[in-house]
Amino acid sequence: MFQELSSTMIIDEIKPTQKLSETEHIMMSRFANRFFLDREVDLDVITGILDAARYAGTGANVQPWRVYVTAGTAKLTLTDAISHAHAISAAEHSSEYSYLPDPLPEPFASRRREFGSIFFGSLGIAHDDIDARGANTARNCRFFDAPVGLIFTIDRRLEKGSWLDLGMFIQNIMLAAKARGLDTCTQEFLSRYHAVIRAELPLAPEELVVCSMALGFGDPHWAKRRPQMPKASIEEFASFHGF
Ligand SMILES: Cc1cc2nc3c(=O)[nH]c(=O)nc-3n(C[C@H](O)[C@H](O)[C@H](O)COP(=O)(O)O)c2cc1C
Repeated sequence: MFQELSSTMIIDEIKPTQKLSETEHIMMSRFANRFFLDREVDLDVITGILDAARYAGTGANVQPWRVYVTAGTAKLTLTDAISHAHAISAAEHSSEYSYLPDPLPEPFASRRREFGSIFFGSLGIAHDDIDARGANTARNCRFFDAPVGLIFTIDRRLEKGSWLDLGMFIQNIMLAAKARGLDTCTQEFLSRYHAVIRAELPLAPEELVVCSMALGFGDPHWAKRRPQMPKASIEEFASFHGF
């Protein structure tokens, strides 16, 4: 049930003597994987993940999510359409919501810069290599070649509270996938291609495309050399009172 904290985990604030539960191990070993094996995921594995994820708590139990799960030719048709739109008319597509403000205040702007430099550095892409960065970004359109692509929508008549609920549902999917040996990458990028997605999938008019997710078996070679994204220490985001 419990296992020793692996020495390969870069989590400074946890004392080496502390034990991790299996759940915590899954939470701490999840990462955004953008490299997948060419290996199908069985439908019953996916429904098992969704079956677990639907137990996410939601305010007033409204359960605001809808998810479109694509694979095979349905995924190919969708990703072809998105890739085409991205190649010929990217500037004409924008998300129906704003993910981050512009300008991004501190400390968030610094963290985003650090992410960019670690991420592109790990791929050997120089900061000023616009073409290579663009080609890498375009991989979003194909769910990073994952065998399964999920599209998440929310009813646009709902408020921010329900978006919290959706986030918890998505996190549950990432963890349930990890528990089954699968990796994920959540993607806000594809929300800008909501019109293309709408043309390919039966979305109701009130559904707003929030994000997507690549799901599949991660490439073990990448998992070994992938960069660990730095996480703020507990001291940076928590304060304790009355202890
Ligand atoms: C809601 C959400 C949206 C994201 N959108 C994208 C995206 O569009 N493209 C991408 O490559 N990664 C995306 N990511 C992955 C983040 O870049 C990644 O989670 C972050 O850098 C932290 O790294 P880690 O997940 O490996 O800990 C997204 C993650 C979340 C949770």
